[in-house]
Amino acid sequence: MRIMVVGGAGYIGSHMVLALVETGHDVLVLDDLSKGHADAVQGVPLVKGNIADSTLLDDLFGRMNFDGVMHFASFIQVAESILEPAPYYENNLVNTIILLNAMVRHKIKKLVFSSSAAVYGEPQVIPITEDHPKNPVNPYGKGKWMVEQILQDYERAYDLKSISLRYFNAAGADPLGRAGERHLPETHLIPLLLKAAAGKADPVTIFGTDYDTADGSCIRDYIHVTDLCVAHLLAFQALMSGAPSSAYNLGNGHGFSVWEVLEAVKRVTGKPVPFQIVARRAGDPSHLVADATRAQVELGWQPHYPALDSIISHAWNFACMQQ
Ligand code: UFG
Repeated sequence: MRIMVVGGAGYIGSHMVLALVETGHDVLVLDDLSKGHADAVQGVPLVKGNIADSTLLDDLFGRMNFDGVMHFASFIQVAESILEPAPYYENNLVNTIILLNAMVRHKIKKLVFSSSAAVYGEPQVIPITEDHPKNPVNPYGKGKWMVEQILQDYERAYDLKSISLRYFNAAGADPLGRAGERHLPETHLIPLLLKAAAGKADPVTIFGTDYDTADGSCIRDYIHVTDLCVAHLLAFQALMSGAPSSAYNLGNGHGFSVWEVLEAVKRVTGKPVPFQIVARRAGDPSHLVADATRAQVELGWQPHYPALDSIISHAWNFACMQQ
């Protein structure tokens, strides 16, 4: 199959490129390199450009027979989306519509879309199933949920079939060290803890210890990036086999508090992790844990690296190779 990976130079996209090439797919990456890295695409063809550019999309879709698109290109910082909603709605929503419209024009009818647990907002029930009410509490999550609803309309009107994958907390790195997390700036907990353990950053700020959780810090469901990519392969196969559009949670079903993650980083690295406690970060739900039964039953997905220490150890190996 020939697949366009939009945002393939980014963290999850670059791992996806590895997985697609390994399974024999023909891949083209479209990435504007505003956040990603050209050397992350593993040597596959890379077109530097933005999905807002319909002329570019018409050219690529017109010249190459794509069987489908995987769309990873979005801004991802929840707190930033509250302070600066405009670029979030422009990039994650408006530009996605431009991409969808080009797909419709060129009759490309299969899409795997990177959605997020942020569509649920503060959960009413844990673990969270896909049918949980969608009350996103920040523009990042609202934009993701808007795209999911637009995709339902595009299926009805244009027969564009899509699977939205609602990631919980993507983490870790390629187990063979070929790819990893290189966000600039880095805002995610695990890479920041690893930088602090390596002595390459200031003490980690712990955002709030007064949440209604057992130890007062936020609880998240960390899912290995390689496991996310396997789910994309299965989702794409399902679409190619005629499966209907759907949305799936991707998580391990186990929550870890910020303090537990900090302890795990100390355990894996064997190093102290300096930290300081500060106030809560805006837009952070207290507790996000997935019920991913639907992906397991319908896609046959099973995480291979559910252990938090494996996730951290792969991320640590990659971080050490970057020095
Ligand atoms: N945290 C800290 N200090 C930091 C960074 C994070 O205490 O320096 C805490 C956060 O408050 C949160 C937890 O660690 O409780 C995880 O934070 P991350 O920034 O690593 O991840 P988020 O849960 O905020 O967000 C991630 C993705 C989003 C996605 C969300 C869905 O970045 O794109 O998961 O669960 F929407």
